[in-house]
Amino acid sequence: MTAGTTGPRRPLPLRLPLLVAPMAGGVTTPELVAAVCAAGGSGFLPGGYLTAEQLGHNLARLDELLDEQAMAAVPYGVNLFVPTPSDRQRDATAVLDYADRLGEQAGQPRWNDDDHYTEKLHLLVEEHPVKMVSFTFGCPRPEDVQALHQVGTRVLVTVTDRDEAQAAAGLGVDGLVVQGFDAGGHRGTHDVAKAPNHRDALALLPELSHLDLPMVAAGGVATRGDVQRLLAAGAVAVQAGTAFLRCPEAGTSPAHRELLSTAHGTRVTRAFSGRPARGLVNDFMERHEDFAPSVYPQVDQVTKPLRAAAASRGDSSQISGWAGAGWSAAQDLPAGEVFASLLP
Ligand SMILES: Cc1cc2nc3c(=O)[nH]c(=O)nc-3n(C[C@H](O)[C@H](O)[C@H](O)COP(=O)(O)O)c2cc1C
Repeated sequence: MTAGTTGPRRPLPLRLPLLVAPMAGGVTTPELVAAVCAAGGSGFLPGGYLTAEQLGHNLARLDELLDEQAMAAVPYGVNLFVPTPSDRQRDATAVLDYADRLGEQAGQPRWNDDDHYTEKLHLLVEEHPVKMVSFTFGCPRPEDVQALHQVGTRVLVTVTDRDEAQAAAGLGVDGLVVQGFDAGGHRGTHDVAKAPNHRDALALLPELSHLDLPMVAAGGVATRGDVQRLLAAGAVAVQAGTAFLRCPEAGTSPAHRELLSTAHGTRVTRAFSGRPARGLVNDFMERHEDFAPSVYPQVDQVTKPLRAAAASRGDSSQISGWAGAGWSAAQDLPAGEVFASLLP
């Protein structure tokens, strides 16, 4: 595919129009993706926060689970975070002030962190190509798209507005993940400092249809009706995350599960990572969000030890409990049942 072209693309390798979303931090496990595959669907394994070795391990585990169920040919995807350029000169003071506020347990910012992007891309090109790779937090480089295309991988980019979609289309990608403001976890906004818009996928889909790219819709999916509406609005598939958070196959921590059953709502905050992300409202969010600078991943790094310590002592008031606006509909059910309940 030539960069810069538009026009009808080949369809994405999808089985049914419903996918389990990539949820980093150990939430979308190989077991969760395999369970959704067994129910007839598919999904994206998260690559974010992992080393290439850890991602390779999760890919091998998913392949093993699919093999055991004679589903080796089921197409699935991997999701990667595009590195966010950071400017130490400009941002160090703001990040260190925030760390001071958090107290002695705060972590150290790292200024050259690319989330092992190059190594993971190498793994996906040279060692373990997959059918689809989706990117979030920005567009990959043209040579990354080309390298993935050369090994037969379809490339998708998460977008939250027209400009981001236009930029992705200009790269010759094969699809867009159209993420609305009601989505759980990080907003895929390409510019970290930009205030995210308040548009849901239902509003975004018709705005992006002129690009003529397959669109996977994401955000706030809680019922079969939500899925049907997104498909009717032009999505080729829907990607749900929060609906699967309480499944036994998900790696959701006990503190996160507790918050899902006790919280009163969600909102978008920069408190945990510096990037806008939707999570269940808790004490950490309320106490710190007014002070968090828009600097990613350094804010994530300084809050991480506090969040990890809270998770290990089961304290849901100090964790990042990512969840979408449909959080209250999530149920303690096996992933196959959740999948079947959402499938049109
Ligand atoms: C716990 C959690 C972690 C997430 N991690 C990622 C991620 O690693 N990469 C990504 O592209 N999106 C991530 N997301 C966003 C999802 O891919 C998807 O856009 C979102 O879950 C859809 O909205 P919903 O949660 O309301 O269904 C995450 C969402 C949650 C809830």
